[in-house]
Amino acid sequence: MTGWHEQLAVPRAPFIPAVVWVDDPAGDGFVALSRDDDEPRWRALVEEDEPIITQVDDGTTRPGETGRRPSSSCSRPSLVAAMLIALDVREGHRVLEIGTGTGWNAAELSRRAGRSGHVVSVEVDPAVADDARRALAALGCAPLVVTSDGTKGYAADAPYDRVVCTASVRTIPRSWVDQTRPGGVIVAPWGTDYGDDALTRLEVREDGSAAGRCGIDLAFMRVRHQRRDFLEPTADEVNDADTTQTAHSGRELFEMVAFARAAFTIGLRVPACYLTVEDVTDDRRLIELHDVRSRSWARVTLVRGRDPWTVHQLGPRRLWNEVAAAHSWWQEAGRPTPDRYGLTVTPDGTHEVWIDAPAADRRWSLTF
Ligand SMILES: C[S@@+](CC[C@H](N)C(=O)[O-])C[C@H]1O[C@@H](n2cnc3c(N)ncnc32)[C@H](O)[C@@H]1O
Repeated sequence: MTGWHEQLAVPRAPFIPAVVWVDDPAGDGFVALSRDDDEPRWRALVEEDEPIITQVDDGTTRPGETGRRPSSSCSRPSLVAAMLIALDVREGHRVLEIGTGTGWNAAELSRRAGRSGHVVSVEVDPAVADDARRALAALGCAPLVVTSDGTKGYAADAPYDRVVCTASVRTIPRSWVDQTRPGGVIVAPWGTDYGDDALTRLEVREDGSAAGRCGIDLAFMRVRHQRRDFLEPTADEVNDADTTQTAHSGRELFEMVAFARAAFTIGLRVPACYLTVEDVTDDRRLIELHDVRSRSWARVTLVRGRDPWTVHQLGPRRLWNEVAAAHSWWQEAGRPTPDRYGLTVTPDGTHEVWIDAPAADRRWSLTF
């Protein structure tokens, strides 16, 4: 495979706003970086194989303030290239993109679909969509940019040959399958609440189902209406929580949080469980599990050289026990990696996962 530079012909710089957001050196959040203040750093960001955050907190945080949550970005070029390869847009294709962002990928899609093709790109945020329209027009690209919730697709211009989502999803919306022609392809970062998402490529069938395989790790931001959320119990609540110890080794705990090891499988076995990992110091790591709906929470506190580790659990679900059981299942199942999984979305919207082949013994329906 060629490198991302060879795959991506549209220049990135014209799509990057003058103000972007970078890690706050003083804390956990994000601070604005202006091209006018530091052009060399801005340009270096544009040229690196890194995502560039272009909006935080849905645009409610202004430069000079600290941002908490990235809400729009220009994705990492090598991942954009990998998704474009999976999507395989051909001259003349009708393409739907969800998540216009800066418009850079929409420009790439338009180049690939050519003058005889048609690209629609849907962006939920009006200000982001306006900036993308301007950048696209300045380069002479003419995809249709629609300001709307992309989880509904864009029925007016369906059917599509290709649908690509550049934000991640927990469920594949029915509308995307309905709006793709049989034989057409849907590519999206897809995954559960637990951990990262996998590049997933589904082919739509005559019966209205869609099926395909999962692949590489894509840590994309979630579409707005499927965001994950976490709980922050008070010190008193933690003091009152059930407290046990775990005999799991550091290696096993690493497997539980690593996408390429057990994390993808655990997410498929334990519904509605959001994983966060915080390295408080070099020697102290907190692994937390959150189910906001049932207000269940668990924390494993790892302190180097001080095992067995302490586990706190709160709420009606025992999330740590569920995750530990899913980890055992993963070991017994032969430690399947994410790329061994596939997904079938049935005509009634059920999401079935399987290992190696759709007819496999190891196949189950997800609950959300
Ligand atoms: C990673 S960025 C997209 C990157 C973009 N394709 C590019 O080339 O710059 C994800 C985008 O998805 C948008 N988004 C989130 N939820 C959405 C939704 N429900 N419908 C449409 N767009 C959405 C965000 O506002 C954000 O701009």
